[in-house]
This record gives sequence, C-alpha cells and structure tokens, in this order.
Amino acid sequence: MAAELTEAGIVVGIASEADLIVVRRSLRAESERAGLGLVDQTKLVTAGSELARNILNYATGSRGRLRVEQVIARDRRGVRATFSDDGPGIEDVEAALTDGFSTGGSLGLGLPGSRRLVDELLISSAPGSGTTVVIVKWKR
Ligand SMILES: Nc1ncnc2c1ncn2[C@@H]1O[C@H](COP(=O)(O)OP(=O)(O)OP(=O)(O)O)[C@@H](O)[C@H]1O
Ligand SMILES: [Mg+2]
Repeated sequence: MAAELTEAGIVVGIASEADLIVVRRSLRAESERAGLGLVDQTKLVTAGSELARNILNYATGSRGRLRVEQVIARDRRGVRATFSDDGPGIEDVEAALTDGFSTGGSLGLGLPGSRRLVDELLISSAPGSGTTVVIVKWKR
C-alpha cells in the first residue's frame, strides 16, 4: 500500500456496550460510501464488531477507539478500520490468531474469524503497551 490517499474518517470511542452500535453503524456507512457490495459490507461490520468487543472484554477501562477511513490506492478503493486501546496488550499475537485460543474462557474465534472476513488484518501489540488492530476491505 505505497501510494495511497485517505479521506477524512470517523473516530469512535469504545468504552461501553452502546458504543458497539456506533461502531457498527460507522463501519456500515463507510463501507457503503466506498461502494463495497452488501456482503462485503457485512463482513467488515462483523469483523469490526469482534475487534470492538475484544476491547470491551480485554482492555476494560482503557481508551479504546476506532478510526474508519476510505483508502484510495492507485487502482482500488476500500475501507480501513483501525482499532486501538491502551489496555494490557497481547502476549503472543500468533497464538491469539489461532482458532480456539482464548484467555477469557470464550470460543477464541474473534481474531481468526475476523481475519478470514477481511482482505488484510494486522496486529501490533505488546504486553503493557496496548493493542492496535488494522483491518482493510477492498472494493472488488
Ligand atoms: N484488545 C485486546 N487487548 C488484550 N488482549 C486481547 C485483545 N483482543 C484480543 N485479545 C486476546 O486475544 C485472545 C483471542 O481473541 P479472540 O477474539 O480471537 O477470542 P476471544 O475474545 O477470547 O473469544 P471470542 O471472540 O470467540 O468470544 C483473547 O482471549 C485475549 O487474550
Ligand atoms: Mg473476541
């Protein structure tokens, strides 16, 4: 993604259950604006919901937020959503991306499932320094 433009995006704070609705609505709106098909819109919204849910569950009380923006590369357009928090971080990112891995006694499908729903998913995290997850869905 060398030469790219981004258009002014939306920033949403993620601190409560009610914010999840705003997250979903924002992802839907930007996906629609980028011209993604209905199925792809829903995939991005579903992936983003999982990431926002993880912030509520695992980065409780931290300044969680989402930035959604249009990405315009040379020959394609898409939506990029960046979820960040300053919570405890993820100790082993590879493990966290594995089906069935959960430190919360849950299904452990949120991150790997999200990865399958989008075109790109990037995690940067370290214990004590928060977590940032970037997802991109391109218009096809
Ligand atoms: N924002 C985050 N901050 C800290 N740890 C996280 C964060 N997001 C995910 N994790 C860690 O990664 C693990 C895997 O996340 P994933 O969403 O795949 O599974 P889960 O949330 O445990 O279960 P499920 O999403 O299926 O209900 C979590 O159990 C947690 O340990
Ligand atoms: Mg999860």
